[in-house]
Amino acid sequence: MCGILGILGKAPVAPLLLDGLKRLEYRGYDSAGMASLVNGRIERRRAEGKLSNLARLLEKEPLPGTVGIGHTRWATHGRPTERNAHPHSSDRVSVVHNGIIENFRELKTELEAAGQVFETETDTEAVVHLIDHHLAQQMSPQEAVGAALQRLEGAFALAIVFAGRHDLMIGARRGSPLAVGFGDGEMYLGSDALGLAPLTDRICYLEEGDWAVLTEDGARIFDNQNAAVERPVTQTALSGALIGKGQYRHFMQKEIFEQPAVVGDTLQVFVNPQSRAVTLPDLPIDFAKVPRLTVAACGTAYYAGMVAKYWFEQIARLPVELDIASEFRYREAPLPDGGAALFISQSGETIDTLAALRYARSQDQTILSVVNQPESVIARESDAVLPTLAGPEIGVASTKAFTTQLTVLACLTIAAAKARGAIDAAREAELSAALTEVPARCAELLNHDEAIQAIAHDLAEARDVLYLGRGAMFPMALEGALKLKEISYIHAEGYAAGEMKHGPIALIDETVPVIVMAPSGPLFDKTVGNLSEVSARGGQVILITDPRGAERAGEHAAHVIEVPEVDPLVAPLLYAIPAQLLAYHTAVVKGTDVDQPRNLAKSVTVE
Ligand code: AGP
Repeated sequence: MCGILGILGKAPVAPLLLDGLKRLEYRGYDSAGMASLVNGRIERRRAEGKLSNLARLLEKEPLPGTVGIGHTRWATHGRPTERNAHPHSSDRVSVVHNGIIENFRELKTELEAAGQVFETETDTEAVVHLIDHHLAQQMSPQEAVGAALQRLEGAFALAIVFAGRHDLMIGARRGSPLAVGFGDGEMYLGSDALGLAPLTDRICYLEEGDWAVLTEDGARIFDNQNAAVERPVTQTALSGALIGKGQYRHFMQKEIFEQPAVVGDTLQVFVNPQSRAVTLPDLPIDFAKVPRLTVAACGTAYYAGMVAKYWFEQIARLPVELDIASEFRYREAPLPDGGAALFISQSGETIDTLAALRYARSQDQTILSVVNQPESVIARESDAVLPTLAGPEIGVASTKAFTTQLTVLACLTIAAAKARGAIDAAREAELSAALTEVPARCAELLNHDEAIQAIAHDLAEARDVLYLGRGAMFPMALEGALKLKEISYIHAEGYAAGEMKHGPIALIDETVPVIVMAPSGPLFDKTVGNLSEVSARGGQVILITDPRGAERAGEHAAHVIEVPEVDPLVAPLLYAIPAQLLAYHTAVVKGTDVDQPRNLAKSVTVE
């Protein structure tokens, strides 16, 4: 999604904007630009493609000024061209925007009739001309923005500067996040704390509908009724080390290797290290009485929810209705009285997951969320938040967010099972012990990185790849396929292993690698049967299993990746790692943009 940055500063603003936009690249974009005030006039520099193109333009045509706004654009309305790149400006005002103005066509017609001249295909330009129109009527910048906000429909985060006003910058949010940064005699606006990290660690997140008038003395914040409000200023924990790549080649690689640490950090929130008892924060639900848990999410977060469905139903005997958020939000599912709903999201800003949450709220469900961004809109709109402590996840492909989501969901499963009397103290101790072992087992697995890297060379040649799994390994097969396809652009599909005979086996020949994720255990023999069917037809099997599984079925596989044998509850947390590493190394062999794969954004805040 688009990245926004605004600086009301004293130093040359262009290099600071460029540095901040680099930290927002992870959100996904296809053009970039900035504007500053030069002798009272608005000047812009914009470029298609990567930030390096904008940097080259700035070298050729430096942008002076100490007050400015910057933007990385993920195109929604209008092709990713320089003309459509933000900022969009008139002589009086310049704007950068994240979101979609739903009524921009109506506004454009009205404003053209009033003499405003539009130049682009974008929805954002309607905001510029609406504010400009009010300024032309002698409104002050604050009055002009206040009036314009009343007319806008849809989602927006805005940063706005005004010709001749080196002392003023205005920001507004509705549906897309926006933070105000506090410097020493300087003020900032940013899409998130990461973009502001090089400038300040003192930020406040605007609430839904807020807008803020920034001057060098600070920020005056107004709510959606234009009443002055106070918002808490927090100290972010983001340091350069946290948001740099360190010795790793890509953010995704760094984040894969951070998993032992961040799974451990997350466990400490929920499992007492001494007693090993799972201790959740007070939740506004009694799991003993909840008739059903509804779960909705998108992408990798959805697959985490799918694993959790197996856990909640098998271990806690709690019925779960699971759906992809973009489907759930529209199908008007009947939800039980006294039910609870759980939403999983790394960013906490995914528009489909937010809409699904709001539907469940409208059906009087108690709302729980598992998020990595406690300041996010999904967190704010939940009755209780179960935080993942993954730290900033910059790579578009979700890795450590996924395993920390599974960590939280496993703890929630144990707590629900206890509350429902589905497990006794001995079983609880076994499951908690298995969980506390996960960081060490993950670290062991990461030592196999080179062996997995060797296999990636075979995968990189493939046109189609299948992933197979049974039980909780079925969502792991789906997740493994998503990892591969989204960063290496190789077509990959995950299937329930038992489904092969119902059609997919027709795809098998010697050119199709089949990755089978199968811990030894009750479902192993069935899965080995599927594995033999594949290898008998020339399919190249890559078997991910534990030592016992390798011993029993290794000879049918072209490659075996061994995972430590663990309690079935925690197996998905471990099997995620070879799937991530296979995808990562395959993408590196293919030379794709691992951290910012084409067409993708880190957080999908538009439908
Ligand atoms: C997964 O690797 C993708 N980046 C994507 O599927 C992601 O999981 C999905 O968009 C959900 O994002 P969220 O967790 O921020 O809601």
